[in-house]
Amino acid sequence: MTEEKTLLRSDRAFFNLPQEVTYLNCAYMSPMCQPVLAAGQAALLHETRPWTVTPQDFFEDSDRVRAAFATLLGAKTQDVALINSVSFGIAQAAQVLAPRRGSRIVTLAEQFPSNVYPWQAVAKRRSVDMVQVARPNDGNWTEAILAHLNNDVSIAALPHCHWTDGSLIDLEVVGEACRQHGIALVLDVTQSLGAMPLNLAKVKPAFLVAAGYKWLLGPYHTAFLYADPAYQLGEPLDPNWITRRDSDQFAELVNYRDALAPGAVRYDGGQRSKFLLNPMSLAALSLLLDWGVANIAASLGAYNRVLIEKAAALGFETLPEAFRAPHLIGLRRPDGVPAALVQGLKDAGISVSVRGTAIRVSPHLYNDENDQNHFLEVCGRFLK
Ligand SMILES: Cc1ncc(COP(=O)(O)O)c(C=O)c1O
Repeated sequence: MTEEKTLLRSDRAFFNLPQEVTYLNCAYMSPMCQPVLAAGQAALLHETRPWTVTPQDFFEDSDRVRAAFATLLGAKTQDVALINSVSFGIAQAAQVLAPRRGSRIVTLAEQFPSNVYPWQAVAKRRSVDMVQVARPNDGNWTEAILAHLNNDVSIAALPHCHWTDGSLIDLEVVGEACRQHGIALVLDVTQSLGAMPLNLAKVKPAFLVAAGYKWLLGPYHTAFLYADPAYQLGEPLDPNWITRRDSDQFAELVNYRDALAPGAVRYDGGQRSKFLLNPMSLAALSLLLDWGVANIAASLGAYNRVLIEKAAALGFETLPEAFRAPHLIGLRRPDGVPAALVQGLKDAGISVSVRGTAIRVSPHLYNDENDQNHFLEVCGRFLK
């Protein structure tokens, strides 16, 4: 039996969206909602008064954020590290996994570079081959990926949906194939986590990374790293002081120690006790937990279904529903996206992104029918 989903709507004011802006670009950056802004304002004031910042403040908010992210992901608090960027998290995964010489690392064509460059660096050092899965004509990434997985592959570095157009990967199927071939699965779920469900227990990645400032509705310069318990004894990329055991004993920091805090905490980036950003992350994650990711996915899926139907009248094509994510869509036309249309959208105050050959449209709960109609009306002006 499938669980009933609640269709959610928010209002523009809650996200501080001015009337003249049509923002269909959460995949670029989330607008900041009221509770996140309020948490940031209070936190900034706190930081201006260092005499009120206690040693506990270096730990407590970090652990609250860690716990909230873990809850969203379906993981344990100690499996989560607080970092600043996806590239750092992937570099950390690459350091721990150290792919064997002569093996292959599999990525997708046109994958976001933060889940590519760290692998290229390690591949050069260790004589490992990088293999790109070509974009499949029928939109079925899952089958295309499966065709590349075998015992010669050491790492599959993948997203849940492609950042350019939301084309979907069935991670439960890919995860199972990875386990059969002894492949470590490393995920960048920046463009999906918070907007569509992920069953961690079934996918079983070795590492998973997500940036905080898109579908997690948090501030820039925040990201999260999940490490499977089997990979929590690796060498930290950032040998900072706060991840050492008993680092809360500030007077004792002069006595250097090798022992690290248990769990994935050892992979935290330096200055992870972000007094300004952690309260904002916590407010954002709490909101997502309140709304429920399955409800968000159902709501954005319903919105995009209508948009796709209307866009078809202008000759826009999208992937079949089985091969695309609910929240992020790529609109393509056989003759491409005219430059004049891209400029026309900008001039009309419409924010979408062009990525590769697609207009990427990525709404959130603040978008309504007027936004759809405005976007399509402006498209119509430039398309024959
Ligand atoms: C799929 C994906 N991963 C990661 C990022 C951001 O990466 P980083 O935190 O390394 O800047 C983006 C930003 O657009 C993205 O789309």
